[in-house]
Amino acid sequence: MGRETMIRLLYVSESTGDNLHDILSVARRNNPELGMTGILITHGTTFIQLLEGPKETMPELIKFLKTDTRHKNFRILLKHQTQSPVCAGWTMKHHEIIDTDRPEHRAVIAAHANLGPTNDPARIESLCHAVLELAHMHALGQKIA
Ligand SMILES: Cc1cc2nc3c(=O)[nH]c(=O)nc-3n(C[C@H](O)[C@H](O)[C@H](O)COP(=O)(O)O)c2cc1C
Repeated sequence: MGRETMIRLLYVSESTGDNLHDILSVARRNNPELGMTGILITHGTTFIQLLEGPKETMPELIKFLKTDTRHKNFRILLKHQTQSPVCAGWTMKHHEIIDTDRPEHRAVIAAHANLGPTNDPARIESLCHAVLELAHMHALGQKIA
């Protein structure tokens, strides 16, 4: 990835149907070419996606995501430059949060539930923190394994 400017995007949306398999296939097919990596966290119909990729290809993907009918209520929470991507190596990791998940994982869902309709920076920050924690745990797990 060299010295390219990397953008980190965090958004939430809601699934409109039984389409997870399709979404992951498309993401895993396209992302290597786009230089995009990320993690898609799901819980019921909730989508929480963290994407990290070059500033050149991110707008194109956002345009697709905005009009994709496989989800609705697409809401970008954060978009900023990062020097330290956490998703490196994942064309699109998937994590389904289940009720028996460890508390650190369920924290993502609690933070999501706490978001509310307004863009309260503290609540967004708290969700972002929980998502990054989860991603870090996966990255660490991969190294240990
Ligand atoms: C929740 C969700 C996550 C997605 N993630 C990605 C992604 O990481 N990369 C990607 O290329 N497309 C992703 N898509 C699909 C895009 O919206 C779009 O359909 C796709 O980029 C179009 O590519 P195609 O013309 O090759 O089908 C996602 C769609 C949804 C609903």
